[in-house]
Amino acid sequence: MSTSRSFPPGFVWGTAAAAYQIEGAVAEGGRAPSIWDTFSHTAGKIDGGDNGDIACDHFHRWPTDLDLIAELGIAAYRFSVSWSRVMPDGRTVNAEGVEFYDRLVDGLLERGIQPLMTLYHWDLPQALEDEGGWLNRDIADRFTDYALTMGKVVGDRTPAVTTLNEPWCSAYLGYATGEHAPGLTDPSKSYPVAHHLNLAHGRAVTALRGVMPAETEFSVTLNLHQLEPASLSEADAEATRHADAVANRIFLDPMLRGRYPDELIDGTSHLTDWSFVHDGDEAEIAAPIDFLGVNYYAPARISADGEYLWPGTYRAFGAPIPGPKTIMNWPIRPSGLTDLLVRVHEEYGVPMMVTENGCAAPDLVGADGIVHDDDRIAYLDGHLHAVLDAMDSGADVRGYYVWTFMDNFEWAWGYAKRFGIVHVDYDTLVRTPKDSARWYQSVVANNALPSR
Ligand code: FCB
Repeated sequence: MSTSRSFPPGFVWGTAAAAYQIEGAVAEGGRAPSIWDTFSHTAGKIDGGDNGDIACDHFHRWPTDLDLIAELGIAAYRFSVSWSRVMPDGRTVNAEGVEFYDRLVDGLLERGIQPLMTLYHWDLPQALEDEGGWLNRDIADRFTDYALTMGKVVGDRTPAVTTLNEPWCSAYLGYATGEHAPGLTDPSKSYPVAHHLNLAHGRAVTALRGVMPAETEFSVTLNLHQLEPASLSEADAEATRHADAVANRIFLDPMLRGRYPDELIDGTSHLTDWSFVHDGDEAEIAAPIDFLGVNYYAPARISADGEYLWPGTYRAFGAPIPGPKTIMNWPIRPSGLTDLLVRVHEEYGVPMMVTENGCAAPDLVGADGIVHDDDRIAYLDGHLHAVLDAMDSGADVRGYYVWTFMDNFEWAWGYAKRFGIVHVDYDTLVRTPKDSARWYQSVVANNALPSR
């Protein structure tokens, strides 16, 4: 008979969300547009023509949202700060914007919830985009000023800070495929963008250490890709190595080893001019972090001649993976998370937090008014077992944040795809916990997974 599996004492149980996906109130409190306001209001960019103007109206409803997180017993909340609320023109501090997050952090602490503050979850102030955005090297200093502003205001009460969320998406979906803001389709621009994101991260960590308490933990969140070759051929193995350099090691290596992968900078990559990397940049990027945030949803299969060009590569293609998929068409493979965490542990030896994991599901509201999302429960259960498997193999994983607390604006998919453990009725904005929320509540309360 199988027994329940426990997590170690002190394991952090959280849930995550991001400003543009939930806040709404885009023209209130002195906020100015971000690149996601511009992008979502551009015809044809978002499914159903949706935008984040109202989203979940969390800007007004945050006290009851935090009440619900507390009621579910969730111990930690990963939120992101809207840069364009705090600095509408990218430079000048807007007191009302800062106060919103000041109150939010106090509200979390009053309810016994530990804050994990993400500084950049993709919503660059449009004013900075107009100056070249992440292509302009000055962005590293703009980001550092913004980070310092937040660090000085909430730093005394915020035990953990994440600089960037998924810079891969900013660099490749924003500049190569155009699926995300600012919607450019010039892959060669992805590399300087990735570098400036890395530089902003390292510079901000160093600056924040100077103004925040010594025990503050600093991190960055990467959506690392668990890549596998489509066949045993050398060509597919080589394509997979190339995709790994472009998707994973372009961030991991400078951040954790102080040096870009040779393949990227020695001219064998299709972008041979890396002059945007200045002397000393790699050392700045390698500012020590306390843990790495890992977001994982699905593995990917790579071939030398597959279906579509893998973003940012020139000889690696995505190939289909057979087997079960979520309604995003993302393959469901919990063991991919184990493999990923073990790999990062073995190659980089860094403590980790799973800062996002979850799934979109059909989420039909039952006759009783509740979403009975057994599919999501199975997904979460499988992936939490995968986290324990990785820990059994030696990976130092300190916590898990389910993506996401409530249904919200899912970027290019708009409101059509629901990832929440709490259902949101977009007509009334009423929040109702799904079965998965109750399931997670009991996992958190027991610090253990139920027997299978
Ligand atoms: C991640 C994003 C998050 C959410 C999930 C589904 O890439 O960080 O905001 O959209 O995917």
